[in-house]
Amino acid sequence: MPRKLAAGNWKMNGTLGSISEITALSKACPDPACDVLICPPFTAIASFAHAAKGTAISIGAQDCHANASGAHTGDLSAEILVDAGATHIIVGHSERRADHGESDADVNAKAQAAWRAGAVAIICVGETEAERDAGDALKVVSNQMTGSIPDGATAANTVIAYEPVWAIGTGRVPSLEDIAEVHDEMRARLAARFGDDASEMRLLYGGSVKPSNAADIFAVSNVDGGLVGGASLKASDFAGIVNAAG
Ligand code: 13P
Repeated sequence: MPRKLAAGNWKMNGTLGSISEITALSKACPDPACDVLICPPFTAIASFAHAAKGTAISIGAQDCHANASGAHTGDLSAEILVDAGATHIIVGHSERRADHGESDADVNAKAQAAWRAGAVAIICVGETEAERDAGDALKVVSNQMTGSIPDGATAANTVIAYEPVWAIGTGRVPSLEDIAEVHDEMRARLAARFGDDASEMRLLYGGSVKPSNAADIFAVSNVDGGLVGGASLKASDFAGIVNAAG
């Protein structure tokens, strides 16, 4: 089984002053039994990465442009993010798919950009509530995986995050059986496409993970950690999730 990963996605929250949460988290979890990642807003990556040096915490980014450089006002390439200190880049989060119309092809290109720059791509997939109600969750996730995960994905360069859109920020979580069903299907799809390496590729669950439910979710078959939004903002909450992954 791969070592678990507890990843925090701060989304559009936090300022440079929130660096105190990084210090507090490293104090609360000096020697965690899982890998720990925080993805703050772009502007905080460099200072957080500096503060996290020598701790067990890695710092990542929430998105990147597919190109390495060029005339793309306001965008940031994976190379720029790695230069700032990011080791991981989240691509294809449902909020970007919804707010910015990102397609599977866009996400695929961004994942390749992360690899090109030497970062790990965290590729997000997940069904909407209407898709789940229609009985299409497995089909939707499988199709997103086919389109969003580039050839060449390995356990070293890629993490997949299953985030049901209806569970994000709502306090609603699928049953443990439903999480297991999707994660088992994801593992089978990866094995069919990537062979032996797929067994080591980390599959995160995301959507209303809290200190109170993390241990149960992380014990589900083929769940190798979590991608956490709201409960990653405060070190006191996130430390509980990190400890649940140990
Ligand atoms: P919440 O943990 O706030 O539900 O967010 C999950 C998420 O979208 C992480 O990427």
